[in-house]
Amino acid sequence: MNLVLDDPTAVLPETDSVCSLENYLALPDHTMDERIAEARAKLGATTLLLGHHYQRDEVIRFADATGDSYKLSRVATESDAKYIVFCGVHFMAESADILGHPGQQVILPDLNAGCSMADMAEISQVEACWEALEALGLTDETVPLTYMNSTAAIKAFCGERGGLVCTSSNARAAFEWAFARGKRILFLPDQHLGRNTGYEIGIPLSKMAVWDPWGLQGGQTRQSLTQSRILLWKGHCAVHQRFLPSHVDAVRAKYPGIQVIVHPECRFEVCQKADALGSTERLIALVEQAPAGQMFAVGTEIHMVNRMARRFAEQGKKVITLDDTGCLCTTMYRISPAHLAWALENLVEGRVVNRIQVRTNVKRWAKVALDRMLEVG
Ligand code: 13P
Ligand code: SF4
Repeated sequence: MNLVLDDPTAVLPETDSVCSLENYLALPDHTMDERIAEARAKLGATTLLLGHHYQRDEVIRFADATGDSYKLSRVATESDAKYIVFCGVHFMAESADILGHPGQQVILPDLNAGCSMADMAEISQVEACWEALEALGLTDETVPLTYMNSTAAIKAFCGERGGLVCTSSNARAAFEWAFARGKRILFLPDQHLGRNTGYEIGIPLSKMAVWDPWGLQGGQTRQSLTQSRILLWKGHCAVHQRFLPSHVDAVRAKYPGIQVIVHPECRFEVCQKADALGSTERLIALVEQAPAGQMFAVGTEIHMVNRMARRFAEQGKKVITLDDTGCLCTTMYRISPAHLAWALENLVEGRVVNRIQVRTNVKRWAKVALDRMLEVG
């Protein structure tokens, strides 16, 4: 996957010969701890280090703030730091750049840290979809709404057409916002989050259609498109789609009384069987608020689940993964201690590597869509 080079909104990284990444990658992870801490201390308040909950332990322990996509975008917006080092994935760093102050610079320690779900919707495909809806006279009554996990170009597309962005923590409010303005939502790119949220607010499955970007007219008929209230893009998260309803049945049979809590990127059938759904931040809060002795099976990325298991064991709560084979987000995993040390030590030397910079024309409308999300809350 080469997200950045294919992304028209990205700017190629500056290279240098002194602090070459290869020199760092040749060294074992644990040798980076002191270097990261030292560089971090030298950078002081000029730098804000953000860590998404799926980051590995060796990286997230250096974060000034941790959170889900929504919380991290808020923290980035409110920060005066000159540099934001984003230990997360590409679309998160792009969003921080869009929402950031003039002069602020956002760094993604490894440019290959993308999101396979975000890759499932390209701007040209979204434009083709919109044109097809336009030909059927449906765009006036359709509000485009994109999940945060999408390119800046798609966010801009939604902003320019009266739509907005959402994350898993405010999807319901964003759907309500959109339905107050149109009869239909085009939801990009995660069909599962779209279906789960739509169903939660009372839209029956029979009123949802799936747009296949590779199919003729999205694989839909004029009638199915016209009748739909939610048009779901055919995208998914490979990590969360691995959880199955049978996993829920298995943990319930093995551990009577267990609470099953899952991320809304999981399949509809899994979410229907779960006790609660939530963003990464909310899943943690659900366990935090539970009484001692409660046991949880959590359906999300394995680094986060393992960290929850250790943290909440001290409070007498047991946390296990919903699926024993574990679900790893390989792109989040790309941010290694070596990449972090490399980015920070270059900063100390006054060099900005791996800057994520969204082009001005894209930024304008993408910001409109993101600002609407922040207003929705
Ligand atoms: P959150 O916003 O819940 O952290 O989710 C981001 C994500 O990519 C989950 O796969
Ligand atoms: Fe993307 Fe899935 Fe990884 Fe989240 S867990 S960043 S949706 S690939």
